[in-house]
Amino acid sequence: MYIDKRRYGVVVTFFCVSALAAPSSQTKVYRTDYTYSKHTNAFYKLHTESRSTKEAREKCDAEGAQLMVPLPQDIRQLHAMFKRFPDLGEYVLVESDRQSHDPAGSSDEVPMVPSMDTEPVYDFMACEVVTRKGDIESTGCWRNAPFICKVDASSAPYDAQCGTYGKDYIPKKTVGSCYKVPKIVYSWNEANAECKAEGAHLVVLNSEAEHEVVKTIMETAVPVRGSKTTYFFFAGIRANHPTDGTPRVFKTITNQTLEEAGYFQWSDNEPNNYQDSEYCGSLFKNDGKYNDLNCSHKYAFICEKEAQIL
Ligand SMILES: *[C@@H]1O[C@H](CO)[C@@H](O)[C@H](O)[C@H]1NC(C)=O
Ligand SMILES: *[C@@H]1O[C@H](CO)[C@@H](O)[C@H](O)[C@H]1NC(C)=O
Repeated sequence: MYIDKRRYGVVVTFFCVSALAAPSSQTKVYRTDYTYSKHTNAFYKLHTESRSTKEAREKCDAEGAQLMVPLPQDIRQLHAMFKRFPDLGEYVLVESDRQSHDPAGSSDEVPMVPSMDTEPVYDFMACEVVTRKGDIESTGCWRNAPFICKVDASSAPYDAQCGTYGKDYIPKKTVGSCYKVPKIVYSWNEANAECKAEGAHLVVLNSEAEHEVVKTIMETAVPVRGSKTTYFFFAGIRANHPTDGTPRVFKTITNQTLEEAGYFQWSDNEPNNYQDSEYCGSLFKNDGKYNDLNCSHKYAFICEKEAQIL
């Protein structure tokens, strides 16, 4: 859809449109990281990071989308998006269209010893890629590659009550915010980006009442698979790295101290900065209080958006 030279102009335009027109039901807008195509009346995101088909499905799902099934008009859209990334390799993972296709790549790419994470053997060539030329080819589900998520405009709603894109935000009248526990585990940076893309932010507690509300949300949330430990949820606070010997200070994503934010209770013996490796904040399900964690480990997380209408 877009040609290379205009890429940056197009991106900037898209962000402006989305910021100004987000709440209008007339305008086709979804998350800021998705691109709209009027030809297919759908939104797309080309993920440039390499993942397995299983992980790609989970990621698309967490974004309210699906791994794209390669129909002809969707392949044209992918082709245009692919061109913007000349270094991305030759293949993009897509959802299987259940047709038979030629195998992608040469057989010497097949790993001799499949890793523990791969799909069972009967799935050997059951996954699919689209090539730069736009051909659909079959591949082993062991292949990690960039992937493309798609969501039809009709299933990409704006939640006017919560001011968020996507589903599953729960409004809590008593504290004036909406909350969601996305069904995926991420590092702190990935979690921070995901909440922002949904029009929200990582949860920050501003009162004892909000602590109680969020504690209940954690207690009732379905545990998210793949978390390093399921009783921690990343929150929107992180610490600095002082080099002058002064103590670390945790600040919120809007640069407030916890005292300024209005809630500053830590779990017993926390923050302990275990092995000097814990610079990101989380909430502990058992007491609903803050705890420090390693930012690069993967945990569930809670997104919050101050409600627009209650
Ligand atoms: C964060 O707050 C401190 C003062 O508390 C200020 O010096 C600093 O510039 C702020 N940083 C940002 C990114 O707003
Ligand atoms: C977080 O843990 C990983 C190992 O899982 C380690 O390599 C990394 O250094 C830790 N982060 C910090 C800031 O220490």
